[in-house]
Amino acid sequence: MPRIDLSGTGTGFDCAEDDTLLRAALRSGVGMSYSCNVGSCGNCRFELV
Ligand code: FES
Repeated sequence: MPRIDLSGTGTGFDCAEDDTLLRAALRSGVGMSYSCNVGSCGNCRFELV
């Protein structure tokens, strides 16, 4: 399962290949800002390095 590391925070979460980054983060207890949870508002947008 891919591991997502949050740069500069020392934390991260696992994300299944058929999951979304937002839902995997929230499920792991990582707080991320969001509104619609369906991909239309852009509030969960972040920089992927
Ligand atoms: S919460 Fe991600 S696009 Fe709206």
